[in-house]
Amino acid sequence: MHNRLVAFAPGRVEILGNHTDYNEGVVLSAAIDRGVTVFAHRLLERKVEVSSATNQRTAIVDLDSIGPSTAEPWANYCFGVIQELIHAGLATDGLNIRIDSNLPVGAGLSSSAALEVATAYATIALANGSMDPMEIAKLCQKAENDFVGVKCGLLDQASSVFGEDNKAILLDFRSITAETWLLPAGVSLLLLNSGMPHTLVGGEYNERRQQCAQAAAGLNVRALRDATSAQVLSSRLDPMIKRRALHITGENERVFAGKAALQAGDAAAFGQLMYASHESSRVNFENSTAYLDTLVDIARTVDGVIGSRLTGGGFGGSTVSLIRTERSAEIVAATQERYFKATGAKCSPILTRPSQGARLLQQD
Ligand code: GLA
Repeated sequence: MHNRLVAFAPGRVEILGNHTDYNEGVVLSAAIDRGVTVFAHRLLERKVEVSSATNQRTAIVDLDSIGPSTAEPWANYCFGVIQELIHAGLATDGLNIRIDSNLPVGAGLSSSAALEVATAYATIALANGSMDPMEIAKLCQKAENDFVGVKCGLLDQASSVFGEDNKAILLDFRSITAETWLLPAGVSLLLLNSGMPHTLVGGEYNERRQQCAQAAAGLNVRALRDATSAQVLSSRLDPMIKRRALHITGENERVFAGKAALQAGDAAAFGQLMYASHESSRVNFENSTAYLDTLVDIARTVDGVIGSRLTGGGFGGSTVSLIRTERSAEIVAATQERYFKATGAKCSPILTRPSQGARLLQQD
């Protein structure tokens, strides 16, 4: 029986395949080398006590009547997961959870999913239980959907769980499976935060979901996964709904082309798919911003950048670029300078590479 333990869950970056997860499509993503660490121990009292080193706050709920906290909304990611685990019979005792994180919040790197997954790993291990990794990801997504009230897909949680060193994760949200593919040698991922916060609680995400559902209904398919771009183009969908659908079908097609490029070790071909993905976000899905567009435009002009696009929900947040590792210092410096000149804003860089997914770090 473990009394104390430490669990870590990484943030994620969506490399290709934007807004495809809730359309039963495919995504290439990666876990990154930053994330959320949770220090957990059992309590004799029947309560859950959560504290955060990031905001120095503490939230407490009764284990037998967990409900969302309006005063401490950040703690709901933990409370929601624990409530789901109680239902699954995998959280029986009181718990103390201390959270530490080196993941920026609101940058589109899924700090919330990392917190959910780290909480799940710690709580399950403290209860001496076990659960299939994809089931853990799904449980965390359910907590975010139902308890926190954000209708996200499964991408963030699954990426945090299935990460592997130097490999992209190909997630298929119809078969709900994950496979991993090596990135070409000598490349890294550069994340650039546009400096404009990103929030999924805003209405745009849910609105896009609804438009995708409308497109699927108009095309008479179960989900946009079942349509091709050619079919969408020749359909009689309303022009705006057609553009939304085209983004999803195009992204699915680009993910399969991206897998082929990875299999062939063709970084340049992969990079072109990333640029095409961003262009589709800008024009078809309209989930980019002028700041994100500027970052991608700059990427095209900097030597050593192979491809670049917005990552995650959009409407703010970060871009991801595939870059030649040996050029990283120059790329960061040139991009920051040009971005400041163009916008007067600062973009904060995170240089990362695909990394191992969620795990226990320590237990006694
Ligand atoms: C956010 C959501 C994910 C996914 C992406 C867009 O990160 O949480 O489920 O829909 O946006 O691909």
